Amino acid sequence: MIRVLRDRRIVLGVSGGIAAYKCIELARALTQGGALVDVILTEAALQFVTPLTFQALTRRPVHTTVFEAWDARSAGHVTLGAEADLIVVAPATANVIAKLAYGLADDALTVTALACPAPLIVAPAMDHHMYHHPATQANLRTLRERGAVIVGPESGPLASGMVGEGRLVEPERLLAVIRAMLGRHGPLAGARVVVTAGPTREPIDPIRFISNHSSGRMGYALAEAARDAGAQVTLITGPTERQLPFEVEVVHVQTAAEMAEAVQAAVETADALIMCAAVADYRPSRVAPEKIKKTEEQLSLPLERTIDILASVQRPGLVKVGFAAETERLLEHGRAKLEAKRLDLLVANDARETMGREESQAYLLTAEREPEALPRLPKTVLAEIIVDRVARLVRARRATSEVSDGAATATPPAS
Ligand SMILES: Cc1cc2nc3c(=O)[nH]c(=O)nc-3n(C[C@H](O)[C@H](O)[C@H](O)COP(=O)(O)O)c2cc1C
Repeated sequence: MIRVLRDRRIVLGVSGGIAAYKCIELARALTQGGALVDVILTEAALQFVTPLTFQALTRRPVHTTVFEAWDARSAGHVTLGAEADLIVVAPATANVIAKLAYGLADDALTVTALACPAPLIVAPAMDHHMYHHPATQANLRTLRERGAVIVGPESGPLASGMVGEGRLVEPERLLAVIRAMLGRHGPLAGARVVVTAGPTREPIDPIRFISNHSSGRMGYALAEAARDAGAQVTLITGPTERQLPFEVEVVHVQTAAEMAEAVQAAVETADALIMCAAVADYRPSRVAPEKIKKTEEQLSLPLERTIDILASVQRPGLVKVGFAAETERLLEHGRAKLEAKRLDLLVANDARETMGREESQAYLLTAEREPEALPRLPKTVLAEIIVDRVARLVRARRATSEVSDGAATATPPAS
């Protein structure tokens, strides 16, 4: 389950293009995430995909005609549109885009779109020339001006054999846009959050480095959860194998020094910094300019401390969250880190039980309270809990700064 999707009503309108098959995957992911997905297929879409596939995956009726029975519970397209939290048209053909722009309502999809006050996401997919035709461009402009979110298309090989712009965006990207859209009024709406993730690599010579087992999973989950809570997110990541989150700004770094520089720049305008990256504590004092040869029986590498990023970030008003991955005396080390780095929140977990795993058992530490032990949870769920705490801290910090601003600007009493 993905919290921002749970029990949300999403109308998925599928029109008649080859890319319709990709939206089967989207319907499945949305349903697995907890959303209630009502699929509408145009007549042309029926040439490419079947209602049964969508029905089996969403476990809900699939709509193909305007003229279906109305009953005590439902007035067809009117109820469907009125109850939706979001309407997504994917793939959107040139034809359906034109109809949406002109407000035509001659099939189940377009009539529901007109009857739907919820936000509209349109994911165009078509031949390169159809996409670049002035008519299609004008129609997309109209929809954009009216508040619709247009996602894609991407460039690449097209069904026609041509290479160009017109490919439907991948379902993962659409899913991210849907999540961000549903979460836009969430507890972090209007906030800027910086998340660091993954390991750093400290070079030994041009081809070797010192690093650690961090997979980036926790940090990426945090970036997605903060995005889903309405924040504008900057993710500063060391090298990982993971798919990058969509709808967040991504900054790639290799070393601790590069990460420090990126964090300093990003926190200038941020409300919160979540330092989840497993930053190397030491780096080789000297980087060999050429590959070190296998000539010595033993090789010693002098190491020096890397910059302490969390301690170096001093911006007043910034909510600072740290992570401690320890192999012994977890709470003791966690508390020491919380105090030494003046953190608002510290997430402590056992490094061996956490790094590279799907799940984690964490403790939440703050200056005011006893450590709170959370159960073993998928990192995506843990990320949602941490983001809730961050949202509370950001709100409290804003309230405090408003009070102190008010006090500073209050008119002095007349003497
Ligand atoms: C094999 C095939 C693939 C097609 N792919 C697309 C497409 O990707 N995008 C598009 O705009 N139209 C495509 N069309 C044309 C549409 O199916 C046609 O314009 C249809 O009227 C669209 O109806 P709808 O918008 O109601 O679904 C394709 C047609 C065929 C025969």
